[in-house]
Amino acid sequence: MRLLVTGGAGFIGANYIKHVLSAHPDYHVINLDKLSYSGNLENLKEIYGSPNYTFIRGDICDRTALDSVEFDAIVNFAAESHVDRSILDASPFLQTNIMGTHNLLETARQRDCIFLHVSTDEVYGSIEKGSFNESSPLMPNSPYAASKASSDMLVRAYVETHKIKAMITRCSNNYGPYQFPEKLIPLVILNALAGKSIPVYGDGMNVRDWIYVEDHCRAVDLVLHNGTAGEVYNIGSRNERPNIEIIRLLLLNIAEQLNMKEDALFKLITYVKDREGHDRRYSIDPAKIEKQLEWKHITDFNEGISKTVDWYISNKQWWERIISGEYTQYYDAQYGERLNK
Ligand code: NAD
Ligand code: DAU
Repeated sequence: MRLLVTGGAGFIGANYIKHVLSAHPDYHVINLDKLSYSGNLENLKEIYGSPNYTFIRGDICDRTALDSVEFDAIVNFAAESHVDRSILDASPFLQTNIMGTHNLLETARQRDCIFLHVSTDEVYGSIEKGSFNESSPLMPNSPYAASKASSDMLVRAYVETHKIKAMITRCSNNYGPYQFPEKLIPLVILNALAGKSIPVYGDGMNVRDWIYVEDHCRAVDLVLHNGTAGEVYNIGSRNERPNIEIIRLLLLNIAEQLNMKEDALFKLITYVKDREGHDRRYSIDPAKIEKQLEWKHITDFNEGISKTVDWYISNKQWWERIISGEYTQYYDAQYGERLNK
């Protein structure tokens, strides 16, 4: 199979490409990525030079980017992915997440190829009790979530109207190696290592379901191969935790791995102004993919956190390059402002 992966230089896309090349050594992967601030070719250094892999720097919004490329299926990871950035400026989110997805849908329609759209549990919005299933209404609350919900609606419309062979996956919060350090888990690790304050939004009791990135990648691959066209699949790991618990667990792990005093790390925890429109709890029911495709998350949470902390400790060069550049300016604007409240 010739597989087009969009956004393959980002956190989940890069992990997915490595999964595909190891699970299907006869496949050819074409990675189309614009290399926005979160796209990083160092995430793929293990597969540089592989005859089964081609990188194209391109924008999913550009209709001509794919003119001369042959493929049988598309897996779309390309997106603006960070909620806080969407609050500061939603425009790139609408452009890439909605217009870019539309462009890929047109490509899938013209080529009659399979299209797997990687979406998020955030499209359902927040829920106090119980969990959302695939038929729950979409109630997005952030501009990011609204842009992803819009793209999901477009996928649905192309299935109904043009009969394209498309599937949607909606996953919960991923963590693991190569995650850009604006997201909670890498941010906490790097700030702790640098002795910087750790910003906890609001009361720290917002709940997310955390899944190790490799489990998500396996699920996406299973849906690509065994999923039914027109269907949506929730991907979650039944591992809901309040943010403050995640932060404490990370700090305990760092203290253990580096033989440091826990108290010094706990002192870095700083409660700051809440995120605007902050969703209180995400909860999805993954029963459909578990029953129909026999998928199950396999990474134990404590083990996954420990591996992730170890990865960031051992890959200083990777994150130092990132935090010394454009990200620093963003960080100062975003967190400096929050920390001052
Ligand atoms: P990321 O920000 O790390 O990666 C996004 C990638 O898309 C980057 O490589 C970037 O360069 C690329 N990109 C951005 N705009 C592009 C464009 N116009 N054309 C081509 N490439 C472009 O994000 P991630 O966390 O890896 O998320 C990947 C996908 O998974 C997103 O669609 C996101 O909505 C979804 N998702 C993420 C999570 C999570 O917890 N991170 C959970 C569920 C779903
Ligand atoms: O649920 C899936 C989604 O998970 C994906 O669709 C998004 O692409 C991904 O970014 C993620 O969104 P969240 O907003 O849940 O992730 P984030 O890491 O930004 O924040 C996780 C929680 O931690 C959230 O409740 C906000 C809080 N937080 C975050 C940061 C960055 C803090 O308390 N402090 C912080 O500094």
